[in-house]
Amino acid sequence: MIRFYSIKKSDKKIESKIFKSIKKVIKKNNFILGNEVSNFENSFSKLCNSKYSIGCSNGTDAITIALLSLNLPKNSEVILPAMTYASTFYAVINAKLKPVLVDINDDDPLINLNQIERKINNNTKAIIPVHLYGSVVNLFKLNRILRKKKIYIIDDCSQAHGAMYDNGKRVGGHGISNISTFSLYPGKNLGAYGDAGIITTNNKKFYTQIKSIRNIGAIKKFDHKTIGFNNRMDTIQAAILSHKIKYLKENNSKRVLISKKYFSKIINKKIKFINYSKNSVFHQFIIRVKDRNKFLTFLKKNKIEYGLHYPHTINQMKFFKKKYGIKRYINSEKLAKECVSLPIDPMLTNKEVNQIINTINRY
Ligand SMILES: Cc1ncc(COP(=O)(O)O)c(C=O)c1O
Repeated sequence: MIRFYSIKKSDKKIESKIFKSIKKVIKKNNFILGNEVSNFENSFSKLCNSKYSIGCSNGTDAITIALLSLNLPKNSEVILPAMTYASTFYAVINAKLKPVLVDINDDDPLINLNQIERKINNNTKAIIPVHLYGSVVNLFKLNRILRKKKIYIIDDCSQAHGAMYDNGKRVGGHGISNISTFSLYPGKNLGAYGDAGIITTNNKKFYTQIKSIRNIGAIKKFDHKTIGFNNRMDTIQAAILSHKIKYLKENNSKRVLISKKYFSKIINKKIKFINYSKNSVFHQFIIRVKDRNKFLTFLKKNKIEYGLHYPHTINQMKFFKKKYGIKRYINSEKLAKECVSLPIDPMLTNKEVNQIINTINRY
């Protein structure tokens, strides 16, 4: 059986260091917002080249907190892609704002920037582009489209840790968006051993707000100044992540190498690829297949695990339909119907990658 992703295998070489750090946290009895959290935040800022990083509970809350820190009027409109994980949409709902969907491009999985322009009105206050599958949305172009309009950009980088724009700048840094959010869910390119997330920004006002919101409205103990939730990152998770972040670039390079093999060696008329941005980190490697169920049965029979990211678009979710009625986003729906995620675990051996390629070529 070729597994979709094995975290245990990936972390084998640092397992003893991780266990030692966990023991240290237990010994220090400092489980909440210990030094390990700020150490990890500093490492993350260095990685992205952002002024500030704020660790938090998970990637869904990261978006909600980022939206709340903008202090927008209730029911302000927030634009997001129809093809993303449910969390991007739920964060908007949870922040009591109104989601406005935009379709993805027909030749790549990213939000269509020209359609964003058409959806903007006086009530549009924020846009959440999603760097889906590790592929990067061109936020320089989006900034040009928005020009002087007072519309904030919060990019959802949950699938793009370490990815870069075409000009070599890393997502989550350089003030290219107002705020960037990351999930550190175990299966991500940088993943904790449980739920965790992180937010980056170059703006001091947003930083202070975010820090306060994540800790029930108080940056200093008992000094509750803003709205807030308990959305902190656990010290133990930060200790683990501080080891894992050192291997992110190496693991991303391995993902890129596997993707190159897939692109060049999978040759089958029934299988189509999707386009990725130049410096994608291949969180998922997606192929498109028309008769998907038949193909999935074939993969199962050949003992190759796969994923579906995602089988439904946001507008196809029951909760969305109930609240906002039936709407269509053709490119997103087509991708949701045809997409299959192949294993792209950095620890896959050459033999396993070749086995996947040969099996798919036989289909
Ligand atoms: C694009 C995207 N946004 C948000 C999230 C939510 O992150 P979490 O599961 O950490 O809440 C995820 C992760 O699953 C994601 O892939």
